Amino acid sequence: MTDNRMEKIVSLAKRRGFIFPGSEIYGGLAGTWDYGPLGVELKNNLKREFWRTLVYDREDTVGLDAAIMMNPKVWEGSGHTQAFSDPLVECKTCHERFRADHPEEIEEHAAGHTKKKEPVSWTEPRQFNLLVEAKLGAVEGEKTTVYLRGEITQGVHVNFKNIIDSMHRKLPFGVVQVGKAFRNEITPGNFTFRSREFEQMELQYYMKPDERSAKEVFDYWKKERMRWYVSLGMNAGHLRFREHEEDEKAHYARAAWDIEYESPIGWKEMEGIHHRGDWDLSRHSQFSTVDLTYFDEEIKERYAPWVIETSGGVDRALLFFLLDAYSEQEDKGKIRVVLKLHPKLAPCKAAVFPLVANKPQLVEKARKIYSDLKKHMVVAWDDRGNIGKRYYAQDEIGTPHCITIDYQTLEDDTVTVRDRDTMKQDRVVVETLSSYLESKE
Ligand code: GAP
Repeated sequence: MTDNRMEKIVSLAKRRGFIFPGSEIYGGLAGTWDYGPLGVELKNNLKREFWRTLVYDREDTVGLDAAIMMNPKVWEGSGHTQAFSDPLVECKTCHERFRADHPEEIEEHAAGHTKKKEPVSWTEPRQFNLLVEAKLGAVEGEKTTVYLRGEITQGVHVNFKNIIDSMHRKLPFGVVQVGKAFRNEITPGNFTFRSREFEQMELQYYMKPDERSAKEVFDYWKKERMRWYVSLGMNAGHLRFREHEEDEKAHYARAAWDIEYESPIGWKEMEGIHHRGDWDLSRHSQFSTVDLTYFDEEIKERYAPWVIETSGGVDRALLFFLLDAYSEQEDKGKIRVVLKLHPKLAPCKAAVFPLVANKPQLVEKARKIYSDLKKHMVVAWDDRGNIGKRYYAQDEIGTPHCITIDYQTLEDDTVTVRDRDTMKQDRVVVETLSSYLESKE
């Protein structure tokens, strides 16, 4: 596959209603994106699979949905007001700002000035805090500055005591959350890869402090998260682990590994697995003066639990799933674009076509099948143009099955079901359609 896959995905995403630039008719807002009718289905499917695997399929986790805006002291306690920053340099010629730790972007910018015979010089690097501020309150002049959460994590840790008190959980256990996070990124870009508003899917796994068990739990979650991506169809050959260098680690991390994806813009972080130790609970105990230690009934001791976290980006995973699924095939002298998305992720599970649009009996029968199926799954309807074109249009958005209602349907109540990947067609009894499609997931 060629290196222009990213441009192709950006174009397909806009043209077919997956992802649009945020506030586009007003000239956009850098680092923001809107998910269109197909994008929101894909995103919901991804988040649902995450929730299913991490909450419903397990006995040692619970879910949570905390507020985006939090008391500003939370971010002092968590260390983000002090340490959540990236090094920034400014071009003295045009005042554009860049991340000092992204040399390739700096070189590219400098080359542009050199080409125009302009001077190139940079300010000294300085730390730039990534928290996004908002003003809250009804009275002008008395408004409080709050931060939109820079990571969804802190909503979990400030609720540790509430979860223990209400759910009576014993260690070890995990808290799962999915939701928006906001970062004032210096250089948003590469489509949704680095945005200023994005979604995270996380697990905070609380455990008794012990280095050997922490290593086991850490290794378990590394493997488990890698397994999840592969189980949803991501090519294992495009995935790898990478350990953070000492100077790369976030302020809270004792150990940090990324799951990286080999994308057209290089190997890039998709999810981070972090050993946060007792950083969060101890700091919040100290800053809030509320005791967040855990009483261990077995050993009759109190301690601050350790946390192993796994933190994925929903938007990044979605982008990488799209890139990974994109394929072009020669078909009768034409290029057939197929998004080979796993059926669990595909925005539409099936499309329904009457063979021709001008035969009322066929259309009526097809409409009935469409509306019956729609009660069980997301289904598309298409009666435009010839069947071949309709197949192509569904292949491009990753619809796993196309159902055609033809003259035989009127005789024996069967339809053809065409498989996106093999292009093979099965004859299926209408009554069994939804179980047939579900069995293919
Ligand atoms: N709670 C830990 C945490 O937030 P992180 O490595 O800063 O760790 C976790 O972020 C994940 O969130 C990343 O692996 C990435 O997938 C996603 N992410 C972070 N910054 C992002 C951004 N600016 N745009 C899109 N996704 C981002």
